[in-house]
Amino acid sequence: MQKITSIAPFWLAPMAGYTDQAMRKVFRRFGTGLFYTEVTVAQGIIRNAVPSWHLLACDRDEQPVAGHIYGADPAAMAAAAQMMEAKGCFAAIDINCGCPVRKIVSKGAGAALIRDPMQIGAIVEAVTSAVTIPVTVKTRIGYDFGKVQIMEILKHVENSGAAGLVIHGRYADQHHKGNADWNLIATVKERASVPIIGNGGIKTAEQAVDALHTYGVDAVMVARGAVGNPWILSDAETLLHNDVIPDRDYADLREVVHLHLDALLALKQKGRLWRRRTLVDADRAAALQFRCHLIQYLAGLEHWADMRRRFSTLSSCDEVRAMVDTVIARQTRPWSELYPLRGS
Ligand SMILES: Cc1cc2nc3c(=O)[nH]c(=O)nc-3n(C[C@H](O)[C@H](O)[C@H](O)COP(=O)(O)O)c2cc1C
Repeated sequence: MQKITSIAPFWLAPMAGYTDQAMRKVFRRFGTGLFYTEVTVAQGIIRNAVPSWHLLACDRDEQPVAGHIYGADPAAMAAAAQMMEAKGCFAAIDINCGCPVRKIVSKGAGAALIRDPMQIGAIVEAVTSAVTIPVTVKTRIGYDFGKVQIMEILKHVENSGAAGLVIHGRYADQHHKGNADWNLIATVKERASVPIIGNGGIKTAEQAVDALHTYGVDAVMVARGAVGNPWILSDAETLLHNDVIPDRDYADLREVVHLHLDALLALKQKGRLWRRRTLVDADRAAALQFRCHLIQYLAGLEHWADMRRRFSTLSSCDEVRAMVDTVIARQTRPWSELYPLRGS
């Protein structure tokens, strides 16, 4: 069993609708930290529901990946984790105790568990007893703004055999707004006997390295700052080792955008995709889903405003590819001027 502290310290956060196998494959060309799947409901896994296993799609050669699941029932979570471990491609199981989306909270799962740290402990204990791979918890510092609950959560996580605690430094009722409280994350780290992974508000490789050094966490997890920037994690690793970030140009950007779109199309072609009882064409589905990545890949480029207006009309992969190539051909400033501005 690989200890999570032996994994490179810059991790790709779980993001529903984003961190599918296609995104992870492209990012894996660069970063070596732990990457997360999209969130999947434990009951769906146990029922062997096809959409649940699509969300967990993972190959043995894209290690290390954590399978990220939610649920409120310890037995169901344990059974789901066992089925996931049997697939042989997950380096860890991560329990979602931080998602504030109503659909999840109303079932007593996700962020609802912040209000019940003892139940977090019960879930972790059941899951750790069921699998041999490390089990981590991803949560927030509290539910209601200003009411810190992370110390209580830490106690239960430590007592239940978890291999690590990922802390998003915002309260659940903040969703993704406001600043993450990294000082509080550092305080938790000082008191913790398990590895602590800090998360929230990291937009550049420099900030990731700075957070690692300043707050003493075992790893830094990046979410929105990684969308459209597959180099952020590897650049942070490079800076950590005092090496120089390699020069890149628009050809590198073009290459990753094409690779990502091709990987997403391949993923869609593997599964039968239904929307409102209609079989959706894989090419169209990939093009539509790719828009949220494309916006970030091309953010800040010249003629951005023009392009943005055209995003909603893109409905085939060829249209996406043609647009990317046209946009890149129109750039006059060197990439080196643009890239450091990302996230600032
Ligand atoms: C689109 C999107 C989807 C997300 N989905 C999940 C999820 O499924 N599970 C989870 O624990 N966190 C989820 N998050 C939260 C992120 O993992 C992360 O904790 C949060 O965005 C803070 O990090 P950041 O400031 O670097 O974005 C999601 C965030 C975004 C923006």
